[in-house]
Amino acid sequence: MTQYLNLDPGLYVRPEVFQAERRAIFAQSWQLMGAASAVDQPGQYLAIDIAGTPVFAIRGRDGSLRGFKNVCRHRGAKLLADGTGQCGLIVCPYHKWSFADTGRLVQAPWYGKDPAIIPEDWPLEPVAIDSWRGLLFASLDPVETLAEQLGDLIPEVADEPLESYEATDLATVSFDANWKVYTDNFVEGYHIPGTHPGFYAAIDFEQFQTTAHKGMVKMTAPPREGLFYRGKWLWMWPNWTLSLFDGGFSVSRINPTSTDRTDQHYTFFFRPGTEAEARARSVKGTLDVVKEDYTICVETHRNYAAGAYSAGPLSGRHEKGVRYFQERVAAALYPAST
Ligand code: FES
Ligand SMILES: [Fe+2]
Repeated sequence: MTQYLNLDPGLYVRPEVFQAERRAIFAQSWQLMGAASAVDQPGQYLAIDIAGTPVFAIRGRDGSLRGFKNVCRHRGAKLLADGTGQCGLIVCPYHKWSFADTGRLVQAPWYGKDPAIIPEDWPLEPVAIDSWRGLLFASLDPVETLAEQLGDLIPEVADEPLESYEATDLATVSFDANWKVYTDNFVEGYHIPGTHPGFYAAIDFEQFQTTAHKGMVKMTAPPREGLFYRGKWLWMWPNWTLSLFDGGFSVSRINPTSTDRTDQHYTFFFRPGTEAEARARSVKGTLDVVKEDYTICVETHRNYAAGAYSAGPLSGRHEKGVRYFQERVAAALYPAST
């Protein structure tokens, strides 16, 4: 069998690689925004950052959902704070230009008439929006449909009643590591005995399995009594996750804000009526495990940044997901060589 090596550590720390990833991966893919229910009502919006580019989706008074860059056409200020909210006109905080939920410039107060501004020339820049199974996605420059990108996830969760759950809890964790260091970690269970002793005790690790599929890495292990996880963890290209609980699930998006800083944005969904205590147990359980992950990722990133590491071998048994992710990154960055 071929011995596969980890990706060149230079790709995790060079600023020009991050800029190339922003163009070839983050702009061209569909990015998980959160729960579609956040934008049910007219005027409701959801604003996120996509690797440095702010975007938002807004439900119009005509019932249509539209997406825009969250950037004012005047001098480029950010229009809406990240997160959810509701508004009439979208008013820029800088010089008070206002935009309709269709993106049309409505007013540029105090601008003057010499020369006057033509509103039709300055609408907000549109962004593609789509949804799937109660989850909202945005794309700056999509190269495939959302369904094509989701690939084998669609049949994988066809029998899960995802739409019957409510989005109740949000959480964001931030850490000083490249987004790929954290993703490499997420797509393998090999680190569980070393990194997560509590989690290790709660699953049958000998039966841990990792398989790579179209657009998805699937990890499974039989849970022991009392674990809040159902024993199936999914990661989807390029940067989001879906983990099943008893009576719910979580999704997260791994979003780089620079070469060496990453935010992970979680949304937790539960069966309606789930007690706050049960919800808190799953949320805390998830974040406790993640903290163990990013603690080790920060140290690992530091070794890559210091040039203290050259690529080592990947386990054929446990690191198929790492290989799949890294091959997709390489293919996106260097399309001619693959
Ligand atoms: S930048 Fe928005 S009104 Fe000036
Ligand atoms: Fe982990």
